Amino acid sequence: MAGISLKNITKSWGAFVGVDNQSLEVHDKEFLVLLGPSGCGKTTTMRMIAGLEDPTSGEILIGERIVNDDLPKDRDIAMVFQNYGLYPHMTVFDNIAYPLKVRGTPKSEIAPRVNKAAEQVELTEFLHRKPKALSGGQRQRVALARAIVRTPQVFLMDEPLSNLDAKLRVTMRAELKHLSHQMQITTVYVTHDQIEAMTLADRIAVMKSGRIQQLGTPEEIYNDPANLFVASFIGSPAMNLIHGTVKDGQFITAGGRDVMKAGKGNRDNIVLGVRPEDLSIVDAGTGDFDVPVYAFENTGESVLVTGQFGKQRITAKGGRHVRKEIDEVVGIKADPDHIYMFDAKGGGRLDL
Ligand SMILES: Nc1ncnc2c1ncn2[C@@H]1O[C@H](COP(=O)(O)OP(=O)(O)OP(=O)(O)O)[C@@H](O)[C@H]1O
Ligand SMILES: [Mg+2]
Repeated sequence: MAGISLKNITKSWGAFVGVDNQSLEVHDKEFLVLLGPSGCGKTTTMRMIAGLEDPTSGEILIGERIVNDDLPKDRDIAMVFQNYGLYPHMTVFDNIAYPLKVRGTPKSEIAPRVNKAAEQVELTEFLHRKPKALSGGQRQRVALARAIVRTPQVFLMDEPLSNLDAKLRVTMRAELKHLSHQMQITTVYVTHDQIEAMTLADRIAVMKSGRIQQLGTPEEIYNDPANLFVASFIGSPAMNLIHGTVKDGQFITAGGRDVMKAGKGNRDNIVLGVRPEDLSIVDAGTGDFDVPVYAFENTGESVLVTGQFGKQRITAKGGRHVRKEIDEVVGIKADPDHIYMFDAKGGGRLDL
């Protein structure tokens, strides 16, 4: 068992910097998720840990050992790639068995372990097929089974659920959560899906443009976002981000149209952030402010009421029995403990 340390890791190609002087400690047995938009450097980071890509500078340790000069096969890592990386000429059974065979596992042990891994990802009936006769989701599960068939020091998983349909994705997410709890192996998991990150991670590293924006538990990332990027990236529907100014404990929307009680002191160029679920819909005149309803959406499990707030719009999440009409005036009440203030220019969180 071992943790992973990245020390001042940079990866550049010519003038382009893919990963920019990043340091990160992944604890022993931790499930760490790298979360960020396409192109932010997630796969590059994983490939450097795996030894498939050399860092331009910086050190990588697995356990106590600097592995920069170790070949991928000597790093005792099992990786699930974004594009499966299956052997097309081998059956599913042989694909899953491959990591055991190359390590000289006795033949009598191979079949039971392959069968168990196949069962864990619901592939038992496909063991005799070749990858080309499988769906994308089934291929992805073969790749997952091939990783979990042995017990490496570290798992690296790059979007292992990305090719599954929505329903199977949710099932496999719970399956992965259960598996990782059973296996207790240090895992770095890449995704751009925030729900996957929230549900699977012990800690999340939110990345943007080759840099980690915030590292914390899912609760910290969700409830205490360090900056505007993290705040806007996590949460669905997204956090309301309203531009305005703070004057004597009042937030005034851009254009000076509407006001809510929030913040302290005086400051321009503010973005007020508040999640839809931290706003409640109340009768007009009884909340923090009133808005005319711009849109009403019923998702079945809840409703979303979007109101016109100054020149901007604000969305509140309500109970599933709430009903509102367009243009009706409703009151909105905000949870004062969950209002965030950001600097509109730099994006940093402000203590207001
Ligand atoms: N071999 C390479 N040469 C030049 N640029 C590269 C190379 N590999 C990756 N990049 C660039 O580095 C950046 C990070 O790529 P990376 O694959 O790590 O992104 P990612 O976060 O995994 O994105 P995605 O979610 O789309 O998989 C991208 O802008 C990419 O174009
Ligand atoms: Mg990638």
